[in-house]
Amino acid sequence: MTAINSRPDSQSVVETIVENCLGKNRALPSDCYIDEGYLQLEEQLIFRDSWMCLGRADEIPAVGDYFTSSLLSEPLVVVRSDPSTVSVYANVCQHRAMQVANGAGNTRQFVCPYHAWTYALDGKLRSAPLMEDKASLKGCRLPVIRSECWGGFIFATLNEAAESLESQLSELQEAIEHYQMEGMHHISCFHETWDCNWKSLIENFMDGYHLSVVHPQTLRPLTPTNLCQTMSSNGAYTGYIANYALAAPERLNHSALLTADERRQSRLFCIYPSVVVSVSPDTLVYLSMQPDGVDKVSVKWGLSSFEKDLDEEQKDQRIKKWQEINREDHNILKCLQRGLRSSFYQGGQLAPADLEGSVKNFHDYLIRKLAQGLAAVEGVG
Ligand code: FES
Ligand SMILES: [Fe+2]
Repeated sequence: MTAINSRPDSQSVVETIVENCLGKNRALPSDCYIDEGYLQLEEQLIFRDSWMCLGRADEIPAVGDYFTSSLLSEPLVVVRSDPSTVSVYANVCQHRAMQVANGAGNTRQFVCPYHAWTYALDGKLRSAPLMEDKASLKGCRLPVIRSECWGGFIFATLNEAAESLESQLSELQEAIEHYQMEGMHHISCFHETWDCNWKSLIENFMDGYHLSVVHPQTLRPLTPTNLCQTMSSNGAYTGYIANYALAAPERLNHSALLTADERRQSRLFCIYPSVVVSVSPDTLVYLSMQPDGVDKVSVKWGLSSFEKDLDEEQKDQRIKKWQEINREDHNILKCLQRGLRSSFYQGGQLAPADLEGSVKNFHDYLIRKLAQGLAAVEGVG
């Protein structure tokens, strides 16, 4: 874990939330959403320490398929380096720090656009034109970033000592395994910036309380607020079940493992700290985010389908539906961020567990992680 050189003022914010919010059914105070120092704590004690979702493994199905990404300020490249391996490297040339890959595509090797050092798909330096001292380049390679695939998602972490994600998520795996997420097929993904604090977007996604109010046409007829139900949670994730209204149509294509109940439910979960997922019998949607200042969040979101061969019109329908849901949420969250800057808000009462229990669980996770991180830094100092 990265050490913090000086004790930031925002430590008092953490002390306040330990006292007022941990284990209690109260929203976090507004400082947690607008204070730059508090955000720095989150970046150092939460984001640098955790597993972050970079996308779906079948975004890059063929050997040489790649996309670029980042983890905090670290540029990354994610590549299918052989048929069964997704590798994540620092996207930083070991000559003079140029990014060796841009955007997404397919390649046989990464050629640095500055002086043409060339790296193989396994990250090893293959050639360095006109360099005389070849011996000193022995062993030169793009640094490997620790990564894991889980449920068809690609995760990476900057923390070499992080506990394996798979072992942390065994309980979640049981709760959603019949949906067979790992076999779902990538439709599309998008990169956006939302005008809100990153936590507000997680909280919003994990809150069944707003569904009927904010989404009267898109979600209320399918998953109304009053049918939401809490789901198992632990220190690595939280979730809830959105049961379908009686009038909601059957989803015809789905895993044969689903029970009758599961065929009429979407399961929504957050793998801490910053990816949220909705899995239904036929569609998977995820939003993975990283803070970009206190009131902006970079979001990569994508959709996958259970069906392998949806035609373009069917894909478009699912994309449009989720674009509309996201637009409705973004509009609310922009206004929310203005309210969070008000001196007249200090964190209100949360609704019962079936409606906002996941928000409380997310807060408890954050508070514990920050408090433990600060204690560890103090122990070292
Ligand atoms: S910075 Fe990449 S070859 Fe020079
Ligand atoms: Fe919403």
